[in-house]
Amino acid sequence: MTKQFNKNIILGISGGIAAYKSANLVRALIKAGANVRVCMTDAATKFITPLTFQALSGNPVHTDLLDSHAEAAMGHIELARWADSIIIAPASADIMARLAHGMANDLLSTLCLATEAPLYLAPAMNRVMWENAATQANLHLLLQRDIQILGPDDGEQACGEIGTGRMLEPDEILARLLHSESEQIKQQPLHGKHVLLTAGPTREAIDPVRYISNRSSGKMGYSIAIAARDLGAKVTVISGPVSISAPQKIDIIKVESAAQMYAATLAAAKYADIFVATAAVSDYSTKEFFSKKIKKSDENFQLVLQQNADILSDTSHQFTDLFTVGFAAETHDLITYARNKLERKKLDMIVANPVGEGKGFDQDTNQLEIIWADGQLSLPEKNKQTLAYELMDIIVEQYFKKQKTHSD
Ligand SMILES: Cc1cc2nc3c(=O)[nH]c(=O)nc-3n(C[C@H](O)[C@H](O)[C@H](O)COP(=O)(O)O)c2cc1C
Repeated sequence: MTKQFNKNIILGISGGIAAYKSANLVRALIKAGANVRVCMTDAATKFITPLTFQALSGNPVHTDLLDSHAEAAMGHIELARWADSIIIAPASADIMARLAHGMANDLLSTLCLATEAPLYLAPAMNRVMWENAATQANLHLLLQRDIQILGPDDGEQACGEIGTGRMLEPDEILARLLHSESEQIKQQPLHGKHVLLTAGPTREAIDPVRYISNRSSGKMGYSIAIAARDLGAKVTVISGPVSISAPQKIDIIKVESAAQMYAATLAAAKYADIFVATAAVSDYSTKEFFSKKIKKSDENFQLVLQQNADILSDTSHQFTDLFTVGFAAETHDLITYARNKLERKKLDMIVANPVGEGKGFDQDTNQLEIIWADGQLSLPEKNKQTLAYELMDIIVEQYFKKQKTHSD
């Protein structure tokens, strides 16, 4: 079978008689190309041993929440972030109840609460348990939260009854997962694409305690990174020092100086399809770094600055296939400067935003003028995340237009 499912999957197994079937599900997922990590409830380990799943998945099986060794190896939050999808098969009536009520009293339920990945449940239980009003009410709650329910199937049950409650066969679970993922991909135009961003300010050291920097908070860059991720892209942010916490499923490479940002960006650009340079990179750095703290002496003190290499221009000239978007933060003559920068730096698009007088830097809102070779669009003042989604839609449109022109 060709690889179809290049994803990190957590397979949750709860305590039901169908747990033995999940051994085949692990094999089917791996055969389809997935990286699988298995998480078992305490009850599940009474039905089938973790060793079986360790051998089949090639990874240690996760069972305990409050185990310092397991936490040190791959903590529950790390595991929750690692997953592209979580599938619980079989899903017992008990785990459905716990998830419906937001409980986090073992590793599997905690992972489900701590992840942003889509969650799939393949219920398996006795027909009467399934039909019970409590289970049906829990099912209703889960469906309301966009948790996807695969099955259950009808037919003969392990308990001898005939009715609804059998777990779907592993091949059927896999087929439904693949279908659901391909539906999601249709809404994710950047699936399979890599978006590289720079964000935040840089710091140019003067001496061990002082530096030259600017007011950039990194909010706009991080918001665009989130929008690109939500459109299905793999996202890498080369980030200057900011106080924003890292969003899930975005690779952050932390740097301080313009020189470090330059090196990290050019190294990452060869793997990227789209580059959005939102960082406020210092144009100059000190010619000399004072290794000891400068003491107050003369009334006047002169610092000699030298120009830094131009990250945006060098990246766009070196990687001509890369769709390159620059940002221009200006206090005046916004459009004139932006157009000039678009041509001079050989960019595909430039996003100009006014700064100063309480605008732009370190604010939650922004307004953007988006300019490309044969178009221009104004986005009036809004919060940065809303603007980021709108901007990414325009980038996607122009990116695919450029791709099409190249392939014609
Ligand atoms: C032999 C046996 C088979 C069971 N099969 C199921 C089952 O198929 N589905 C189910 O929901 N519960 C089943 N149970 C009950 C669960 O194991 C029990 O509710 C347990 O608390 C589930 O815990 P968990 O959800 O943390 O895995 C079974 C219990 C036993 C003793």
